[in-house]
Amino acid sequence: MKNSLFFILLACATLSSCSNKTESEDKSAEVDNTPLEEQAVFGTYQGNQVLEYKLTNQNGVEVKVINYGGIITSILTPNKEGVLEDIVLGYDTLSGYLKDSPYFGALIGRYGNRIANGRFELDGEVYVLEQNNNGQHLHGGLVGFDKVFWNIKELSSEDGSALELTYSSKDGEEGYPGELDVKVIYTLTDDNELMVEYEAETSKMTVVNLTQHTYFNLTGNVKGDILGHHLKLEADGFLPVDENLIPTGEIQPVKGSPFDFMSEEVIGKRINNDDQQLTYGMGYDHCWVLNPADSLKLAATLYEPTSGRVMEVFTTEPGIQFYSGNFLDGSLIGKDGVKYAHRTGLCLETQHFPDSPNQPQFPTVVLNPDEIYRSKSVYKFSVK
Ligand code: GLA
Repeated sequence: MKNSLFFILLACATLSSCSNKTESEDKSAEVDNTPLEEQAVFGTYQGNQVLEYKLTNQNGVEVKVINYGGIITSILTPNKEGVLEDIVLGYDTLSGYLKDSPYFGALIGRYGNRIANGRFELDGEVYVLEQNNNGQHLHGGLVGFDKVFWNIKELSSEDGSALELTYSSKDGEEGYPGELDVKVIYTLTDDNELMVEYEAETSKMTVVNLTQHTYFNLTGNVKGDILGHHLKLEADGFLPVDENLIPTGEIQPVKGSPFDFMSEEVIGKRINNDDQQLTYGMGYDHCWVLNPADSLKLAATLYEPTSGRVMEVFTTEPGIQFYSGNFLDGSLIGKDGVKYAHRTGLCLETQHFPDSPNQPQFPTVVLNPDEIYRSKSVYKFSVK
């Protein structure tokens, strides 16, 4: 099949999507969903079938996505010998995701990262959110976008095969104001790029900060931890946090500190240094302030020497949360029965800054009804 999107499974959730015509819609044409190539149900949740979709490209790269949480369940990319292996953490079955998942592969909303004390004020009104993380609000609350059904439609765009995911979040859901219509497009290009484009529209003034929470391990099929990966971040500064991982409000220069990834550094080299910020994060769990640029810019380069795999992350967002998998402790058994030991996966979450609704000096996360939220990140896979 030339247009290598195999629609393996059919979405059953029928939730409304944004009505505005967008750039990405202009480039994409809907394709016929029938007949189904294969059918395999990933599981059932609350009476709905959870279905898995697959994007492929001409190089054999493959990305799988389910309609629960918009979760990326696997990404196969070649190593330097051309062997395709899975570079993301996750589960073989739905029950893993339902039972205990630290946001493996999931779409995160309405607000990626933390909001202090689960409260913020907007237009003179105080909003109280779920305090689901040490008294703070994390990743959208108890039932964030990682735990809802997304409506999935396959698209074929000139950039590659794609999936359009839509979800309509009700006014007041998890305490947030405004009905929010969200659209996310995952596109796999023949240049081995996974593009993630986000859009949202609201019925009332609200706050939005969407991201993607895939855990990467470039060794392939998780052969070890991520401490030997090399990382470069296009950031001169990061946001120091308090003991609850809420930014203090300053931007701290990284130069000369364990947070300095301005040149390629081995992740494990300084992660256990005696440093208060590393103690608070139990390792790296901080937002780096990306050097400004007008459009899509390189944010991070990750390299794993044994496999030769490289991943570059580009984004339109002002920040990137680098989380070194500090809460993984071997208790979760993932795909192929692999035990996810300490720091066996890392996240590079492109986003606005944590707690922005309470920190007016940070770039705004406010969305008004006459605006469209737009954000784009690209993960580009290669070898060296
Ligand atoms: C984010 C947070 C971390 C942690 C993980 C999930 O990266 O910043 O503190 O909550 O998600 O475990």
